[in-house]
Formats: sequence, structure tokens, C-alpha cells
Amino acid sequence: MYQEAIEKAVNQYRELLLSQVDRAEKLNAQKAQEKKDKIVIGVVGGDGIGPIITAQAQRALEALLKDEIQAGKIELRAIEGLTIENRLAVSKAVPDDVLAAIKACDVLLKGPTTTPSGGELLESANVALRRELDLFANVRPVSVPEQGIDWMFFRENTEGEYAIGGKGIEIPGLLTMDFKVTTVAGTRRIARAAFEYARKNGKTHVAIVTKSNIMKKTDGMFSILCREIAAEYPEIQTDEYFIDIMSANLLKPNMRSQLQVFVMPNLYGDILTDEAAQIQGGVGTAGSANTGDHYAMFEAIHGSAPRMIARGMGDYANPESILRAAVMLLRHIGMPEKADKLDAAITATAINAPITGTKEGNTCQGFGDALVKALQ
Ligand code: IPM
Ligand code: MG
Repeated sequence: MYQEAIEKAVNQYRELLLSQVDRAEKLNAQKAQEKKDKIVIGVVGGDGIGPIITAQAQRALEALLKDEIQAGKIELRAIEGLTIENRLAVSKAVPDDVLAAIKACDVLLKGPTTTPSGGELLESANVALRRELDLFANVRPVSVPEQGIDWMFFRENTEGEYAIGGKGIEIPGLLTMDFKVTTVAGTRRIARAAFEYARKNGKTHVAIVTKSNIMKKTDGMFSILCREIAAEYPEIQTDEYFIDIMSANLLKPNMRSQLQVFVMPNLYGDILTDEAAQIQGGVGTAGSANTGDHYAMFEAIHGSAPRMIARGMGDYANPESILRAAVMLLRHIGMPEKADKLDAAITATAINAPITGTKEGNTCQGFGDALVKALQ
């Protein structure tokens, strides 16, 4: 009865498998990045609260990088057109002209973009950009010094449940199937990034987070390869945890201060970093770096908050998340002092001119005003 649908699904699966084999083979032949005289920072507003919060991060960067911009060493370049209206109009996660403009930059500061879920099959712009720019490491810091929390998450960012997330199979009226993809090269490079970070920053513990007892092939291999890399870092203690118990551990006071660096497949990283951000004060407070060998993209960890816009509260959105992303951007382009300066100014402004998400609290613009003052 389902013969035709099964035939179609098998053919689709064959195509998917071939495309992933091709991708995995290409991962083995990557080139290193050349050094540039001028760094172009693309600024993409995105949708919903995106343009509102990104504008304040742009102001902060303009203030901090005034001299470098004047000397032509850094350019802040606005990139228009990555909006849900444009993407739906051309049925592309990232319209071609926007992608070309993005690829002409070295790093990106990006506001959140709206992702239609379910039926409408437009892929997430985030996911498309991570894939197109091969941004394999999603690096998310979370810190609550008074609770001894100083965490760095390394979330694999181009594979797992996201690699072909929009291309699942359906036997109408009967079942659906999605796919999870883990490559050898893709796992080794995220594991390497996590352990290198740990070594360079004097960290003594790395937690591998999987569900390898259930996802035996994909997480099973992720776990084995991470342990292989771990063996090259004997000074670092490595433990594997399943994602469910790790979600609990983040809430356990005596475990929190022991955890330092985490490495995990894509979807677990997506979920666990929202939990971690909430422990820090909310997803509105957490920034995120997406890095690869050629490009890097810095963004808030949250979405475009359409509900906030619908309630007319967009102007009260918290820009802290994207500002923390700007801190990571500055560190990435080799400006650690400016990064520290911005970091300290954000922390001070969050205390002196706090956003509450209500009309009684500060506006996003007001936060930006106070921040720019704090930077002077
Ligand atoms: C994130 C976001 C994205 C993701 C969405 C917007 C596609 O939740 O960066 O964590 O799932 O990766
Ligand atoms: Mg997320």
C-alpha cells in the first residue's frame, strides 16, 4: 500500500547519504586562513528584536574601534536583506546576494533571524549560514562567579540533527523520519577545539556529553573519537556524561563548580546552552561564537522574540546577549583589551541601567546610551 512512498523515501535517502559522503570527504581537505591587513566586520540585523539589539552592539563597536575604523584597519559593513520577508519571497534560507555580501566579510555580528518551524520548509538562516561558512564550533561561555560557575561549551555546529534536519522522510499518514549525521572529521575538529581551549586556558576538566547509550552509531562514534583526542591531553581529566544527567548536574551546586569545558553534538549543545544561559540570568544575557577555519559569526543565543514584538515590547529587548557576542568578536580578531573593556562596561551597565523586559525598566536604546558613556 505504501510502496510508492517507500520507493520515493529510499531514493531520497540515497541522495542524502551521497551528499553527506561528499561533505565528509571535503572536510578532510580544508585550507588554512590567510592573514589580512584589513578586517571587515559585517553587521546583520535579522528579524524581530534583531535590528533593535544589534544597533546597540554596533554603536558599542563603533565607539571602541573608532581609531581602527578611521585608519582603515577595520570596516563595519551593514548587510541588509537577511529578513524573513526576503527569505520567504525567494524561498531561500539566505538569499544569494546576501550570502555573497556575507562571504565578502571576515567576521559577522548577526542579530537573530526568525525560523519558521514545521510545515513551511524554509531552512533556518542560522543553520544555513553555519553550513555555508563551515562554522563548525559553537562556543558559548556562561559564568556566574559568585556560584563558582565558569563554563565554556563547545557545541558541534554543522552536523548531528542539523545537517539534514529539513530533509526528513515522510510516509504520509503513517510515519516521519529525520536523520542525524556524525562525521569522523567533523567530530575530531570540535573535540580538538575543546581540548585546545582547555589546554591554552589552564582548564583541568572536559566533559563529553552524549546519549551514546541510545544513539549508538552517531553518539557512539562521537564519544570514541573525543576520547581518542582526550588521550593527547593527559593533563586534562575527561569524563563522559549522558545529556539527561548533565542537564540535572548543571543544577547541582556541588557539581557546578567542578564543570569547566563541555563538548557535545549539535542538538544537545543547543538545549544545554539555553539551560546554562538561564542559570546565568536568562538567554538574553548570553552571547555565542560560531567559528570555522575561514569565517566567524557572533550572535545572541536566543531567537528573534516575535512574541515580544507582537506585544509592542521590542524596544525593551535586552541587548546584553549580542553585546557579549561582540566581546567574543573582539577577542577573536585579536583585541583582548578592548574585549575586556566592553565586557566590564556591559556588566556595569546591566547593574546601573538594567533592562527588565517591562515598561518600568530601561529601553534597549537607553541601555546603549549608558553603555557608550561607560566606554568613554
Ligand atoms: C541557537 C538557536 C538556533 C539553533 C535556531 C535559531 C535555529 O536556537 O543558536 O541555539 O537551534 O541552533
Ligand atoms: Mg538554541
